Amino acid sequence: MAEEIYSPGLEGVIAGETAISTVTGGLSYRGYSIEDLARNGTFEEVAYLLLYCDLPNAQQLDQLRKRLSDAAQVPQPILNAVRDIPRGSSAMDILRSASSMLAHWDPDVNDNSREANLRKSERLLAQLPVVMAARYRLANGKEPVMPKTGRSLAENCLYMLFESDPTPGHIKAMDVSLILYAEHEFNASTFAARVIVSTLSDLHSGIAGAIGALKGPLHGGANEKVTDVLRSVGKKENAEKWVRGALARKEKIMGFGHRVYKDGDPRAVYLKELCGQLAKETGHEDLEGMAAVIERIVWEEKKLPPNLDWPSARLYEYLGLPVELYTPLFVLSRVSGWGAHVIEQLDNNRLIRPRARYTGPQRREWKPLAQR
Ligand code: ACO
Repeated sequence: MAEEIYSPGLEGVIAGETAISTVTGGLSYRGYSIEDLARNGTFEEVAYLLLYCDLPNAQQLDQLRKRLSDAAQVPQPILNAVRDIPRGSSAMDILRSASSMLAHWDPDVNDNSREANLRKSERLLAQLPVVMAARYRLANGKEPVMPKTGRSLAENCLYMLFESDPTPGHIKAMDVSLILYAEHEFNASTFAARVIVSTLSDLHSGIAGAIGALKGPLHGGANEKVTDVLRSVGKKENAEKWVRGALARKEKIMGFGHRVYKDGDPRAVYLKELCGQLAKETGHEDLEGMAAVIERIVWEEKKLPPNLDWPSARLYEYLGLPVELYTPLFVLSRVSGWGAHVIEQLDNNRLIRPRARYTGPQRREWKPLAQR
């Protein structure tokens, strides 16, 4: 028996190898810093980089855009189901169910080869935004709007939700947020996807499981909870008292802290800049001012820096997006990272099956029913 190593929550444990991204020395995807990618790239280039291991040339990018455009079709029975799922179901639950249902119509469903998994990842990247936007519109009494060909995923997302053409500034902000959410090493949802496919299950199952993991407020669900913080604080003058009170009651402030980044999340640092610019353009400087006070007090009290969800909740508010779609937008982007991890896991698979430290009773004798 190997030496017993135990770390609650697997904190600090190296649970596998990856060539997709690293948080060491700042976050980078396949060797490119996220600052570089966010400043110069588009989400489609980043998705290609994650899935195909290198940046696309112009022809490869054009072909990817065309494939995504062709794949942005959701079978009618799924759109019907999306219409019929009871009101009040969360958009994350809809995406989780949709990713599972889409498998039934996927021509590669039973093919676990690298090529098939690339095709399936691309299809989900194209289909899930259509599902998200359709459900949002149906829930608000409007008919779904389909994506337009030749537009980026960021532009189409905004277009399908609001049925109007977004400004270049809004498209850029959405695109950057998708780039920053695309990939993050062995986080809980990615690890869940890898565990699932390590049994030689399929990509759609891995992604459905990953969406379930991402939903929780300690992971992706935090970006929606950040809005509760901002709304409860209300105005800059209340911020200090509110934060000190919440921390004194040992409450967690959503959007702060990170399992890996103890000195600061580089994605949050980058997005804060863009958030400031968009706040000016959209007249939300007050909210930026209030957020800055909250950040300062959380730092003074707990030495906790903000994570990506802290600025992204404000960015989405400035884009006019509904809160219930903040975490689903994270899904639309992270499908690229999850797809890359599923492929990497299967390229060199070993069943992920750790051990548990037993804390139950010692061996006991069976008692017949009459004696219990
Ligand atoms: N607010 C207040 N205190 C906090 C926070 C927070 N957001 N985060 C951590 N702490 C405190 C803990 O209470 C603990 O304090 P103590 O030592 O006095 O008991 C200490 O900091 C260490 O915290 P842990 O929870 O042990 O740290 P862990 O690495 O497990 O947690 C996590 C990381 C789950 C992200 C945590 O910081 C948290 O719950 N944050 C809020 C949720 C959030 O924003 N999640 C988004 C993650 S990033 C992403 O998904 C893009």
